[in-house]
Amino acid sequence: MSIQYRPITPLIGAEVDLDLRHPITPAQAADLHAAMDRYAVLVFHHPEALTNEQHMAFTLALGPLETTQRNAMRETSGDFRIPDAFNDVSNLDGKGNPYARDDRKRLFAIGNRLWHSDSSFKVIPAKYSLLRAVRIPSKGGNTEFAHMGAAYDALDDETRQLIEPLVCEHSQLYSRDLIGFREFTEEEQRRFAPVRQRLVRTHPGSGRKSIYLSSHAGKILGWPLPEARLLLRDLTEHATQREFVYSHRWAVGDLVMWDNRQTMHRGRPFPAEQARDVRRTTIAGDAPTMAQAQPLAA
Ligand code: OGA
Ligand code: MN
Repeated sequence: MSIQYRPITPLIGAEVDLDLRHPITPAQAADLHAAMDRYAVLVFHHPEALTNEQHMAFTLALGPLETTQRNAMRETSGDFRIPDAFNDVSNLDGKGNPYARDDRKRLFAIGNRLWHSDSSFKVIPAKYSLLRAVRIPSKGGNTEFAHMGAAYDALDDETRQLIEPLVCEHSQLYSRDLIGFREFTEEEQRRFAPVRQRLVRTHPGSGRKSIYLSSHAGKILGWPLPEARLLLRDLTEHATQREFVYSHRWAVGDLVMWDNRQTMHRGRPFPAEQARDVRRTTIAGDAPTMAQAQPLAA
């Protein structure tokens, strides 16, 4: 039986009727990949809740995990609540209590409230992310997604030509700098050394071009820094206009899967004293964006 998709907005997102508690077939996996190419974000409502094992089995049916999953700050503190291969995106410490408002790990983590694409600070950035809600706050805490292919299509020709050959540097140091989080140890600075990404990338599934933006992008090679930051800011403003965005309001049990190669996303604020337990698996990308064809010289 074929899988049914209900588009959420004209440009991005679809809800899917599929019970993820049972293994999916290779044909269903192929169908889901095609739907990801088309909708970029798929939403699975799961009021009967999934286990970590079911979440992981579904992930592995779609591709191999990205390595070095763990939240960079939890790694040094030992605040682990969930299995190793998951990324703990919750606001909870190792004992399951919300971090204090001024906890450094919390303040680093809320950098994901800036628009970004997962792992854009890695040479081979992530393909899909799959985020599941186990506990949600009484208000706030939506996750928003913006379609970078649709945003590219809406650029004028002059801007397309301007950005086509550009290469950015991405680092978690740059995204945290934007929110005034600047105190990093030397070891952290080494760990967060910038990587290069093309500003325009081509989606391998659809052949569609997109603007590869992320708050981790902090430099454009060959450009003066303030001018680079201003262009990135203008592009981000353009790409996150409401028509390109879907805002997901979580229900317990939801699993949302997005394609980092053609979207950006961000978390929205919620009361700091409430628990928000969301857990992520991440499917590895297969090539550096720098390996994509160089545009022909003009
Ligand atoms: C993520 C992320 C935002 C949120 O899981 O990669 O950015 O709303 N999450 O939790
Ligand atoms: Mn993210």
